[in-house]
Amino acid sequence: MNKLKEELNLFRNEGLTELNNASSEKELNDLKVKYLGKKSNLTTFLRSLGSLSPEERPLVGKLVNEVRADFENIIAEKSSTLKEKELSGKLSSEKIDVTLPGRRNDIGHKHPLTLTLERVKNSFINMGFSVAEGPEIESDFHNFEALNLPKDHPARDMQDSFYITKEFLLRTHTSPVQVRTMQQAKPNSPIRIIAPGRVYRRDYDATHSPVFNQVEGLVIDEDINFSDLKAILEFFLKDIFGNSVKVRFRPSFFPFTEPSAEVDISCVMCNGKGCRVCSYTSWLEILGSGMVHPNVLKMSNYDPEKVSGFAFGLGIERITMLLYKINDLRLFYENDVRFLEQF
Ligand code: DAH
Repeated sequence: MNKLKEELNLFRNEGLTELNNASSEKELNDLKVKYLGKKSNLTTFLRSLGSLSPEERPLVGKLVNEVRADFENIIAEKSSTLKEKELSGKLSSEKIDVTLPGRRNDIGHKHPLTLTLERVKNSFINMGFSVAEGPEIESDFHNFEALNLPKDHPARDMQDSFYITKEFLLRTHTSPVQVRTMQQAKPNSPIRIIAPGRVYRRDYDATHSPVFNQVEGLVIDEDINFSDLKAILEFFLKDIFGNSVKVRFRPSFFPFTEPSAEVDISCVMCNGKGCRVCSYTSWLEILGSGMVHPNVLKMSNYDPEKVSGFAFGLGIERITMLLYKINDLRLFYENDVRFLEQF
């Protein structure tokens, strides 16, 4: 019986050590089967009770039960510490630092040309103009002929055009929208429109792009005269470039207007001191304008004896370059975010 007691004790110590070293729930469960399961040595011990005398049997039986209780206790204890450890591990690995700054989403914004276009549009809309549009693929008739530029007119050489067929081309300016607007209107009815849009020319350098943006203007009514043109354009330019800008009207030539004027503003780069941008003249050419030529009115069923009008055309790229002091227009089309981000 002493031998049995000794073996039982050995088994107890071995079991307690092993159970105590279990490092996971899974390992602990496997050990539980090993030490308390049907096939465990504990069962073997119980079976061997049969070979003992009736006096010894309860004593050893009691010991076996004590060992079982020891095992059960340590398993319960171990299980709860392992569960706790697992939970705290999980908590720390899944911890969220609510004090971290949020990830910033960069919001897109408008292109500088769009910003200028919106300012120009708003300025005229505030003066009662409405916005008209025309096609970018234009007929030779609308682009030239009806604007008093007959086929052999030398002024057609002023613009190198992208022809698609003999009759159709990419419009070289927004002026054909003047023609379309008059043709769609009731003859001699008043018109007050601007027409923004893309135009195309064979040109490419720091200040010319083959595609660029113009805004055309057309006002027709009874008794419209040159002072109306001057007032509207001066008001517009001060709205865009600020009240202190100086505006001058310089005689010029366009086939579709008579008289014609180019409009200059005092140089926004040097404030009139003279610099490279204004070629040391202290003036910047900003738009073309004039009184609508009687031939243009006639060709679109307007009667120059009854109504008169003025027209103008300006370039959005040029105005944007001056407003933001950009010296190369190609920057507008490269879409480099480092450039675009600044607006
Ligand atoms: N169409 C001209 C151009 O592209 C600009 C222009 C000048 C438009 C005078 C006009 C105007 O309406 O009256 O260069």
